[in-house]
Amino acid sequence: MTKKEELIREISELKKKHNALLLSHFYEDDDIQDIADEIGDSLFLAQRGQQAENPVVLLAGVTFMGESVKILSPEKTVLVPDMAAGCSLVEQSPKGPFLKWRLENPEALCITYVNSSAEVKALSDVICTSSNAEKILAAIPKDREILFAPDYNLGKWLRKNSGRDMKLWKGACEVHIQFSAEKLMALKMEHPDAMVISHPECEDPVLDLSDVIGSTSKLLKTVKDNPNQKFIVGTEIGIFYQMKKQNPTATLIQAPTDEPCACNECPYMKLNTLEKIKMAFKTLSPKIELNEDLRKLAALPLQRMMDITDGLEVSWPSKFETPAYFK
Ligand code: 13P
Ligand code: SF4
Repeated sequence: MTKKEELIREISELKKKHNALLLSHFYEDDDIQDIADEIGDSLFLAQRGQQAENPVVLLAGVTFMGESVKILSPEKTVLVPDMAAGCSLVEQSPKGPFLKWRLENPEALCITYVNSSAEVKALSDVICTSSNAEKILAAIPKDREILFAPDYNLGKWLRKNSGRDMKLWKGACEVHIQFSAEKLMALKMEHPDAMVISHPECEDPVLDLSDVIGSTSKLLKTVKDNPNQKFIVGTEIGIFYQMKKQNPTATLIQAPTDEPCACNECPYMKLNTLEKIKMAFKTLSPKIELNEDLRKLAALPLQRMMDITDGLEVSWPSKFETPAYFK
């Protein structure tokens, strides 16, 4: 048995012992995707984590994804392989300036992208992911002002598509803003038969050159549904593994970055390893722990997102007021 096979066997035994569910995002390394019970985008992972009957959930992704599961299911032990697996969007939306922004716009409703801290979620009215953002925006009453945070590119794309005015927070994904529109244009000329598919965290000029824009699951489905097609893919490289698996006849070309680099790899997602997953199951740590008052506050906008996604009616606060937890 190789060292890797031995590791996989140990993980499988520990998983059984704890009756645990192992969830992975599409951007994880191939070997992590291979041992996961389920693989998905941020919305799917939050939904599956919430619905699961397992007392232990390990989320191989970035920390905010584990937090979403813990916020919605406080009774579960939610493990992450590496607590340092952050996200540039979380770093670029600290709670102090975010609270100040909300107080400067008290009449507005705030849609916050799931790539945010539990504190910023707790200061928001509704959460969205890239797969339900249009539906969430459509549920906001037409007479309300809207704030959108923290991804500027996703906000700008939504604003353009919906025609709704929104004030945007200026955060960005450090991975998706590396793609170069100029080089993409040149690559399109070289491959005129290729379909360009991009994540909405890419900058405007890249999205303008794209045929399909959407969440990781939408991009994967586009590849799956088009046998023998050539694609230029504007998202994190980890998803190529599922794309190739689900459509072996597709030709996949990485969208070009400004500099020749490995910068279409999310450094946070790539912190996770099989070894760290084994240790997390063995020690039941690191685990997501949240102050209960904070968790309850963050659960309101997250649950509102789940309800809208499921087609339910929701109610909205008439005005923003600083929750006691933040005073
Ligand atoms: P998805 O929800 O589309 O999987 O996106 C998550 C993410 O972090 C993209 O960079
Ligand atoms: Fe965050 Fe970008 Fe990594 Fe997604 S790819 S987790 S948005 S840094």
